[in-house]
Amino acid sequence: MARILEKTELAPDIKEMVVDAPLIARKAEPGQFVIVVVDDKGERIPLTIADFDREKGTITIVFLEIGKTTMKLGRLNAGEEIAHLTGPLGNPSEIPEDETIVFVGGGVGTAAVYPIARKAKKSNEIISIIGARTKDALIWEDRMRSVSDELIVTTDDGSYGRKGVVTEPLKELLEEKKVDRVVAIGPAIMMKFVALTTKPYGVKTIASLNPIMVDGSGMCGACRVQVGGVTKFACVDGPEFDAHEVDFDLLMKRLSTYREEEELAKKLFVEGG
Ligand code: FAD
Ligand code: NAD
Ligand code: FES
Repeated sequence: MARILEKTELAPDIKEMVVDAPLIARKAEPGQFVIVVVDDKGERIPLTIADFDREKGTITIVFLEIGKTTMKLGRLNAGEEIAHLTGPLGNPSEIPEDETIVFVGGGVGTAAVYPIARKAKKSNEIISIIGARTKDALIWEDRMRSVSDELIVTTDDGSYGRKGVVTEPLKELLEEKKVDRVVAIGPAIMMKFVALTTKPYGVKTIASLNPIMVDGSGMCGACRVQVGGVTKFACVDGPEFDAHEVDFDLLMKRLSTYREEEELAKKLFVEGG
């Protein structure tokens, strides 16, 4: 059991929760995730550790209510408990030194970028690009500003910041200055286009992959992805990989494997109140 200490609505369908999880907080590193089981009948879903406080023994999760389990989690309130929380899982991010790094956060992926950028800021120049569909869906702008030497904000509809998607300012930056590394977290389609944008410039590009996961510990194979023509398990080999080597089309195809079942589960959950 893990008690929810704080709950904040960041956007109509995006929630932030601070959870009491001292054992996880003690070991967590940027880039790692937890597997959440909302109640005893619930499925297992992976969520990034968006922040952690070792002294208070807390971790922060930020999630988009996209289907049954994330909606169920979003209905819990401060004071209530999450049935099971396992972690930290996955490999911590590799943090270089003396590099110019561009962090790209798409939608709720921005919260996953934040702890990596915060640690990287200590020894690198950080430029961040965060994008959302619209102003109301933009999250953690202040936090990202605090860990960036420069922050560029985009919205698809132009309601805030620059109009357009994140890859547009990214391309301009690559034209203008020497960038050593790009780190992208967001929807698979965004990460695919970030990789396509950086490839002609030969800039090292890292993506944190978001396949369907079950056990999160390398046993079930649900999270398999192709990287450089080799099958990898995102939960134990990743979740971060060289984006130029990732087969994003296969990732997106596998993400839609259970779409009919997921839509039915969501419909029944919403109708059941
Ligand atoms: P489902 O019923 O499972 O799915 C609803 C819709 O989302 C369907 O269209 C389906 O195709 C699609 N979908 C299913 N699984 C995923 C997935 N893994 N990624 C993207 N789309 C999916 N989400 C966050 O909001 N915040 C996070 O911090 C976060 N961190 C993640 C870290 C890792 C390592 C991974 C692998 C995924 C992460 N995700 C994160 C994605 C999150 O796990 C899924 O959104 C969640 O499992 C959906 O569960 P659901 O039952 O609510 O929706
Ligand atoms: P979204 O669909 O609202 O997209 C966010 C932004 O991504 C857009 O505003 C745009 O700037 C950019 N984008 C989208 N499509 C693009 C394209 N074709 N080309 C260039 N840029 C594009 O995002 P959302 O609904 O908040 O979804 C967030 C996603 O992040 C989810 O799929 C979730 O699984 C993933 N995620 C992954 C991790 C991880 O660790 N791998 C962590 C958190 C979230
Ligand atoms: Fe089962 Fe990765 S989630 S092997």
